[in-house]
Amino acid sequence: MALSSITLSSFRCFNSLKVDLSSGANFFYGRNGSGKTSILEAIYLVCSGRSFKSSNIESAVKLGKESFKLKAYDNDSGFIIEAYKERSKAIQLKLNNKKITISEAAKTFPATIIDNKTFSFTEAAPAFRRKILDRAVFLSDESYSANWFAYFRSLKQRNKLLKERQLSSLEPWTEKLASLGESLTEKRKIFFDQTKNEFGNIINKLDLKSHKVFISNLNVNYDQGWDSINDLLTTFNSEKDTDIRRKVTTKGPHKADIKIFIENTDAKEILSRGEQKLLAIIWLCSQHEVLRSIYNIKPTLLIDDVKSELDIDTFNIYISLLKLIQNQVIFSNIEDQINSKIEAELINIKKFHVEQLSQ
Ligand SMILES: Nc1ncnc2c1ncn2[C@@H]1O[C@H](COP(=O)(O)OP(=O)(O)OP(=O)(O)O)[C@@H](O)[C@H]1O
Ligand SMILES: [Mg+2]
Repeated sequence: MALSSITLSSFRCFNSLKVDLSSGANFFYGRNGSGKTSILEAIYLVCSGRSFKSSNIESAVKLGKESFKLKAYDNDSGFIIEAYKERSKAIQLKLNNKKITISEAAKTFPATIIDNKTFSFTEAAPAFRRKILDRAVFLSDESYSANWFAYFRSLKQRNKLLKERQLSSLEPWTEKLASLGESLTEKRKIFFDQTKNEFGNIINKLDLKSHKVFISNLNVNYDQGWDSINDLLTTFNSEKDTDIRRKVTTKGPHKADIKIFIENTDAKEILSRGEQKLLAIIWLCSQHEVLRSIYNIKPTLLIDDVKSELDIDTFNIYISLLKLIQNQVIFSNIEDQINSKIEAELINIKKFHVEQLSQ
């Protein structure tokens, strides 16, 4: 689904702002502090109930005000989605005037954010890459969320038993955890393989110029969190002594990662900032393309500060990528980099000069 418009009230630097969006590409530009990130944050927040900028959503209430309200419309479905936050109260989400949970919102209006943190995709801790994969699997597979929560609840329980030395109760929890962990891993692997395949398709379609060498040397693999020669129950049993000593479950899907290597070296040791950023964008777009082409889900893609660290050739690769993915895209930059040639190439693009919007 694509958002047709959004209204921000008392949100960050804005008193009141309405933006009519294109179902294709939307480009926000403006000087530092003009409100670009805030607009992307508002769109992400109304779709997901979460902020990508801050874990403290209260900070988004305009200084001097008591609450913020965001209201977005999808003209095709007629859906209205709202987020309301009063200081020191939980955020409320509504779909067509009925309260909904964060995960219901995320399923109805899926959105992905690519910002500074995502650009460090290869340098970040494994949990970060796991989360990116998990969010997409959550959209693609109805049963994933229940499986995920059950696994992490059981993991907590097993770790508690290890910590409190209640070893006689360990076996049933170990079996339960192994079975939940196997099904979780299977779902992740399916989506990872589809993404890797799409990643290959996309890089074949792009004219990567000087980046061709680094991209074609990349080796991206899914590390499931334990040695794939053994099943998970065998692994838990063979690691039992280590787990008892360390009072924690040391191996399993909670340790999974997306490993990116160039020959035998971790890509983070080799890639430049711009290369990392390009890789992150192409990987995330591959996930989007899988969601669209295989699962018929079209998340909105938000990319903040797109041009920083990208030279003009790399930026042009990014523009070609936008032409390939057919989802709604909302991206920002300090300067107006979208010239008339790019405008003609990207059908359905809307440009917004943020300083002028808020006047
Ligand atoms: N709760 C708030 N109340 C009022 N103003 C706020 C609040 N939170 C942030 N701001 C201000 O909102 C303005 C817009 O911030 P935002 O991060 O959206 O700018 P930006 O256009 O993305 O800038 P940059 O190019 O530097 O990333 C800033 O001046 C910031 O200080
Ligand atoms: Mg910003």
